[in-house]
Amino acid sequence: MTRNSDWQVTPPAPMNPAPEIQPQEFEEIRVLARRTSGLDLQPGKQELVSARLRRLVRGGGFRSFREYYHSVVADATGKALAAMIDALTTNHTSFLRESDHFEFLKSEVFRQWSGRRQIEIWSAGCATGAEVWTLAFLLNDALPTHMVRIAATDISTRALEFGQRALYPVSRCEGIPREWLARYFVAESPDAYRVAPRVRAQVTFERLNLVQPLAWRRSFPAIFCRNVMIYFDRPTQERVVQGLAACLEPGGYLFVGHAESLTRIAHSLEYVRPAVYRKPDPRGEKCSRP
Ligand SMILES: C[S@@+](CC[C@H](N)C(=O)[O-])C[C@H]1O[C@@H](n2cnc3c(N)ncnc32)[C@H](O)[C@@H]1O
Repeated sequence: MTRNSDWQVTPPAPMNPAPEIQPQEFEEIRVLARRTSGLDLQPGKQELVSARLRRLVRGGGFRSFREYYHSVVADATGKALAAMIDALTTNHTSFLRESDHFEFLKSEVFRQWSGRRQIEIWSAGCATGAEVWTLAFLLNDALPTHMVRIAATDISTRALEFGQRALYPVSRCEGIPREWLARYFVAESPDAYRVAPRVRAQVTFERLNLVQPLAWRRSFPAIFCRNVMIYFDRPTQERVVQGLAACLEPGGYLFVGHAESLTRIAHSLEYVRPAVYRKPDPRGEKCSRP
């Protein structure tokens, strides 16, 4: 995955202070971000948008946010838009985040998958990879190496590059069990750990925009799409959940963030437990609720 360097070639103009964003300029950017990536930038986010785009505005030598906006819209390659969305997304994540999901996988779900030849989980909106590697370690604890696959996707190329590199400063590895550090990481330097090559080989990273039609040719027994839809408005959430449901196998699980209840949106999934849903399986049992 290559960084969008050709779009950012214009040398920075250090003598030029970045312009202030005007309300109409914010509105244009807001509408563009919502239409292309589902990001729901509320009116109060003007300062945040200004701060996050300032580097691109200044780096491109633009005299105003409007000039910058027009260059993004005019760029037929889509690279300028990707860089804008990159700058606007929040990639916060951590290892073992919302850990009850992983406990549930271990205690309830893994045994339902016994007898399979391969398990592939989709981490949709994987950010910088902590969720991906947490899932990989968990699966590797339970299954032989050749059975484990993870599809990791995000709209942010910057986050994907980080995840793919799989190199984490020691401070971000606090909280990772010691056995996992020993088994699944290599100490790259005194300050950083890198996920071991055999685990990295189980994961594919790919840019995928969840608000566009999903083109998977396969379905998944579990999808993690956590703390992503929180940034979408309700109609977008509904479309995304319906798209994700279509990518699940019958009986497959959808994990969302605990702040992302699906109660107010239309979908075809069964509630299992907080932030866990399941696609009905006409041939199988109903899921057991704890
Ligand atoms: C807060 S992070 C969540 C990371 C991880 N799932 C977790 O729960 O720790 C949200 C991620 O969603 C991604 N995202 C936002 N809009 C998206 C879209 N339209 N398609 C795909 N990913 C998107 C962002 O780039 C960001 O990396």
